[in-house]
Amino acid sequence: MKAISQRSIGGPDVLETVEVPIPQPAPGEVLVRVAASGVNPADWKLRSGAVTVLGPPPFTLGFDFSGTVRELGEGVTEFGVGDEVFGMVLSRDGAYAEYVVVPVAALAPKPATLDHVHAAALPTAVLTAWQALTEVRPGDRVLIHAAAGGVGHLAVQIASAAGAHVIGTARAANHEFLRELGANELIDYTTTDFTTAVADIDLAYDLVGGDYSVRSLAVLRPDGRVVDAQGEPIDDPRYHRHYVQVSGADLREITPLIESGKLRVEVERVLSIADVVEAHKLSESGRVRGKIVLTTWAD
Ligand SMILES: NC(=O)c1ccc[n+]([C@@H]2O[C@H](COP(=O)([O-])OP(=O)(O)OC[C@H]3O[C@@H](n4cnc5c(N)ncnc54)[C@H](OP(=O)(O)O)[C@@H]3O)[C@@H](O)[C@H]2O)c1
Repeated sequence: MKAISQRSIGGPDVLETVEVPIPQPAPGEVLVRVAASGVNPADWKLRSGAVTVLGPPPFTLGFDFSGTVRELGEGVTEFGVGDEVFGMVLSRDGAYAEYVVVPVAALAPKPATLDHVHAAALPTAVLTAWQALTEVRPGDRVLIHAAAGGVGHLAVQIASAAGAHVIGTARAANHEFLRELGANELIDYTTTDFTTAVADIDLAYDLVGGDYSVRSLAVLRPDGRVVDAQGEPIDDPRYHRHYVQVSGADLREITPLIESGKLRVEVERVLSIADVVEAHKLSESGRVRGKIVLTTWAD
């Protein structure tokens, strides 16, 4: 099969197409024919060595996929060959490939209302937002930094569906988009320091990093919290570092929101996997609204 691999850590040009054997599912795993693969900032961070959790290259990137089950490992009864599925895989043999092997616990049936491109855009971003915002209650004031990004635009909708008053930081060009998704107030961070524009926040969600978490502590209610997906941990009882957990069960729980239209995923760019270098350059720009998705090789 074809896969995108890299022999060294570096810029987007280290990504190359290689021919490798189709992986075999172990007990409790399935083999998925990947139709589309979502791009996450973690991909360029792993490619460039800013994040090293995959170990040294060679490896194949790609956490997110949507596709069709082609083979079942021993003991798998939850899925059948031909099922359309989506999920998240944390592996050195990721989803920038024709096929990926996935534990069944990481998979869910593809939402009936989505094509593979939109399903592949979701797993990492929606699991991150969903798990970070589980404690949001009706009436909470929730501040979401980088509201227009892959995680942020889903977080806006999840917090809004939970009954929160949602405030987002984004460039003015993204404000209308975010209002349509349920944001109540928006701050253009290029002209306004958010610490002067908001107060009494129950939960500030930091998807930017740098000093955003420290500065967000200043706008909390006394019992408010900062949840940080990105940045150096801070020693403060109101600060919580959050890491996404792979969970097919959570994807199943989120699916009714997607199928009822309450949660929609914005895909700004769909590129062929042959254009993976361009996809990484775009993701690295930090300017993508919603998600970038790669379509994989045709049969
Ligand atoms: N801890 C975890 O488990 C976990 C999981 C997923 C993601 N993450 C991390 O969370 C971060 C966000 O991920 P993502 O996928 O949402 O990223 P993304 O899609 O690449 O985010 C792009 C968005 O960031 C916005 N942005 C950039 N600088 C900003 C600023 N200073 N203030 C407000 N908005 C800003 C841009 O909107 P404008 O054009 O409006 O500026 C753009 O729409 C990344 O660093 C990622 O690595 C962590």
